[in-house]
Amino acid sequence: METPIVKLSDEELKTVYEPSEDSYLLIDALEADLEVLEAIKPVICLEIGSGSGVVITALAMALKRYHSAHFIAVDINPDACKATRKTSLDNSVVVNVLQMNLLDCIRIRGQVDVILFNPPYVATEYEEVLDDRLVFKTWAGGKHGRQVMEQVFSTIPEILSDAGLFYLVVIKENDPEYILSAFQKLNMSGRIVCERKVRGEHLYVLRFCKAKVNEIS
Ligand SMILES: C[S@@+](CC[C@H](N)C(=O)[O-])C[C@H]1O[C@@H](n2cnc3c(N)ncnc32)[C@H](O)[C@@H]1O
Repeated sequence: METPIVKLSDEELKTVYEPSEDSYLLIDALEADLEVLEAIKPVICLEIGSGSGVVITALAMALKRYHSAHFIAVDINPDACKATRKTSLDNSVVVNVLQMNLLDCIRIRGQVDVILFNPPYVATEYEEVLDDRLVFKTWAGGKHGRQVMEQVFSTIPEILSDAGLFYLVVIKENDPEYILSAFQKLNMSGRIVCERKVRGEHLYVLRFCKAKVNEIS
């Protein structure tokens, strides 16, 4: 999978998340799954918290030959929304960008084929999750680092298509096993598809699908 060109100015870097090891681990997970992703012939792909747009753009570039695929990115940070749009255009793909809190205004049900989320996962006080400063949105994850990501868990099976896949980046402190069992209760099966230890962080990419519909190895 080609790595997109991402150009963020010093001004943008004050609030927009610069592509980092976690972003690239998610891209690596998608690259390893490219055949699986092509097989499900995605029509709608959605990234929650797109930041610079590096991940959704990489996916759009890789799936370019599916002309019918639509790529949607959501971020709460208006600067990140602009950066995502620019990154997609700089790399000659189209991503529709929405400034929005998580999945608040997504009304489509059962039709999203690929969902990506590299959330703010650092364990912090809850006050830091509520802090209005946009840069806090890039990392502050509250208790166990799960307080932002957990807000979308119950919506994922509602919006995901039957053959769809959900990719979630987490760290050890988030307790990946706890997250896998939380999704099991939502009738979704998941597993770790990628992991990497880097600079004191143990990163994982978890992949989920609707249980029994399309369990894949
Ligand atoms: C760790 S960064 C990941 C950025 C990008 N996806 C990447 O992998 O490089 C988390 C992103 O989630 C966004 N975010 C945080 N809270 C959000 C919320 N409530 N709704 C939408 N986006 C949110 C942040 O603004 C930030 O861009």
